[in-house]
Amino acid sequence: MWASAVLLVLLGSFGANALDNGLARTPPMGWLAWERFRCNVNCTADPKNCVSEKLFMEMADRLVEDGYKDAGYEYVNIDDCWMAKQRDANNKLYADPERFPSGIKGLADYIHSKGLKLGIYTAYGNFTCQGYPASGMHLELDAQTFAEWGVDMLKMDGCKQMDRHTMKKGYPQMTKYLNATGRPILFSCSWPDYERGAGIPINYTLVAENCNIWRNYVDIQDSWQSVLSIIDYYAKEQDTLVPVAGPGNFNDPDMLIIGDFSLSVEQAKAQMAMWAILAAPLLMSNDLRTITPEYRDILLNKDVIAISQDNAGIMGKRVLQNPDGIEFWLRGIPKQQGTNREWAIAFFSRRKEAKSFTSSFKDLGLPADKVEGFDAYDVFSKYYWGYMPPDANFTVTIPPNGVRLIAFGQAE
Ligand SMILES: *[C@@H]1O[C@H](CO)[C@@H](O)[C@H](O)[C@H]1NC(C)=O
Ligand SMILES: *[C@@H]1O[C@H](CO)[C@@H](O)[C@H](O)[C@H]1NC(C)=O
Ligand SMILES: *[C@@H]1O[C@H](CO)[C@@H](O)[C@H](O)[C@H]1NC(C)=O
Ligand SMILES: *[C@@H]1O[C@H](CO)[C@@H](O)[C@H](O)[C@H]1NC(C)=O
Repeated sequence: MWASAVLLVLLGSFGANALDNGLARTPPMGWLAWERFRCNVNCTADPKNCVSEKLFMEMADRLVEDGYKDAGYEYVNIDDCWMAKQRDANNKLYADPERFPSGIKGLADYIHSKGLKLGIYTAYGNFTCQGYPASGMHLELDAQTFAEWGVDMLKMDGCKQMDRHTMKKGYPQMTKYLNATGRPILFSCSWPDYERGAGIPINYTLVAENCNIWRNYVDIQDSWQSVLSIIDYYAKEQDTLVPVAGPGNFNDPDMLIIGDFSLSVEQAKAQMAMWAILAAPLLMSNDLRTITPEYRDILLNKDVIAISQDNAGIMGKRVLQNPDGIEFWLRGIPKQQGTNREWAIAFFSRRKEAKSFTSSFKDLGLPADKVEGFDAYDVFSKYYWGYMPPDANFTVTIPPNGVRLIAFGQAE
């Protein structure tokens, strides 16, 4: 079983008619407001945390000054509740003037001056999920407006008052309008998640032709339970989802909640490791002004980011699920620059106590007969195992509700 699973991992890429806008060649990295800051619009009551240009400027400053930009995080993304309650006299969207006095254009200029990119949000219906004006009847005009402002990424949600059966037409229309602006705009689609919710068959070929990244499943919440339910969904659907992922196209299990209120340090490592294995966008939704160093270090870990950002863009999958609550997830990383690393394996635990596990690369089904030995590196402990013959036993201790992430390749 292991051997065939490994083969599948290595063959798991696809190339048909993926969206050709040159973007998201590796999973996009950045920051997105929603999970942490929601629709907090009362800047009188909560000036520090309300959805305002100040919030996005402060996050941009932190991205640059605290090392995130250097690590690869480049998008600063607005979510719902940025708009004024109506369109203007020409039917154009505009930002709430009290919370965004510089307008989105002014904010985009600021973000660009920092060497970062700006993402914005709309929805496919007549209203956003929070009741603000959305793009359903104005797709072309809104695409042009976003491009004029200098927007670099667009998340189009699926709310509200819009027949989900029309999404197979509507989202591709938006793709065409975005393309017609001439500005490369990374397109994040919530379309498959809404079809899933309505029991409409999802055509991932069509999704990949029109979107760079897409949400498949429900919104993440600030809880370990939510992280687990998302991982469960991707495991259950992996035979459908792995083949459509690749450079330019990635499944999106939603934001990183690392450094928020609920995940322990080990759980945070587990989310980071699993999102890297899944070739998922790394969009943090946290408060970079107050995050503590142990969480920041996880988000900035160069070796886990290198796995996430491997050029081949192969999405990993669950290859074994033990009845004792231990799972193995494997991702092929054949092109990782400057190293001999070819695979990343996550030993993932749902147990309530630490678990020691003894195995060998041969027992794990890796192509051991052709290989004299492996070189392995423990990504979070930063420990080199050194040369390991294929049949040499190793023991890993997997933390409760946590992960051990190992990057390895043939010894040179
Ligand atoms: C904002 O919060 C302030 C202080 O709590 C409150 O007086 C005001 O009514 C709130 N404004 C809105 C629009 O909810
Ligand atoms: C959006 O509003 C327009 C104009 O009122 C209406 O014709 C259309 O049916 C609405 N769209 C949906 C899908 O609710
Ligand atoms: C528009 O689509 C064409 C054809 O797929 C592509 O070559 C071009 O780069 C796209 N332009 C933008 C701005 O996305
Ligand atoms: C899915 O979309 C592709 C690309 O547009 C199309 O060729 C194919 O016929 C569609 N499949 C189904 C089942 O509709």
